Amino acid sequence: MEIQLWREKLSPYQLAVDELLVKFRFLALEHKEAGLYSPIENVKGRVKKISSILEKMQKKKIAFEDIDEKIEDIAGIRIICQFVEDIEKVVELIKSRDDMEIKSEKNYIDNMKESGYRSYHMIVYYNVQTMTGNKKIKVEIQIRTMAMNFWATIEHSLQYKYRQNMPDTVRERLRSASEAIINLDNEMSLIRTEIIDSQNYFTLKANVVAEILNTIQNLYKIANKREIVKIQDEFYKIYMSSDLEQLHRFSKELDVIAEGYRAQGIE
Ligand code: GTP
Ligand code: MG
Repeated sequence: MEIQLWREKLSPYQLAVDELLVKFRFLALEHKEAGLYSPIENVKGRVKKISSILEKMQKKKIAFEDIDEKIEDIAGIRIICQFVEDIEKVVELIKSRDDMEIKSEKNYIDNMKESGYRSYHMIVYYNVQTMTGNKKIKVEIQIRTMAMNFWATIEHSLQYKYRQNMPDTVRERLRSASEAIINLDNEMSLIRTEIIDSQNYFTLKANVVAEILNTIQNLYKIANKREIVKIQDEFYKIYMSSDLEQLHRFSKELDVIAEGYRAQGIE
């Protein structure tokens, strides 16, 4: 197979992965900017390596012409969540979108695999526009918690190391490690609200601080130096007190001051 043919074959998949990465990362950002907890912690994506596609073609006796139809994970997106509860939310988010159409789903969280593997899988159709027009691409989306991802990453490298011959002792250890992961996820779920509250606090604080600093920077251009120094001192005091309410009030006061300067036309 010529490398150029592979490039042509894989480039729409690359486009799909790139677009979806932007979209899912944007979703996470949108939540954070709105001061909301994001069910998406982290998103990764990849196009399957040619060597892995060849391996799968050989294993499953698939011809080159059939790979679009028969290999469903050429484009792969992995969404990592903090808590098991977030997975369901991400699944709902995906189902509610009109730029993706669900082809199939596998719930390896309720139905753990023999190996101990857990994750929620979706195959979705996603349209990309290329030089030659519209193309409907299949994308595999794997949704899992950080803990599940930790297990899957380790297990994958061991699978790779041992190929078909993983010793039973290792296999057993992995299964019991998988039980430990279930416990860890459950334990984290129990203190989920507490964790989210504290994370929200930090995000909100970071947002308001960024806003204040931005306004102060703008004021530099228009306000007099003495006033700026006063504002900065006050900001520092409030910042050190770590009181979110006060930071918000201060931010609003600054807006009023900035608005006052603008009204005077001193730009
Ligand atoms: P393929 O295994 O991809 O040929 O297709 P399938 O129909 O068996 O799909 P399945 O849902 O079982 O697996 C799809 C993907 O999930 C794999 O390519 C892996 O990335 C991941 N996966 C499935 N099972 C395991 C497992 O036991 N361990 C690890 N680490 N990953 C797994
Ligand atoms: Mg499989």
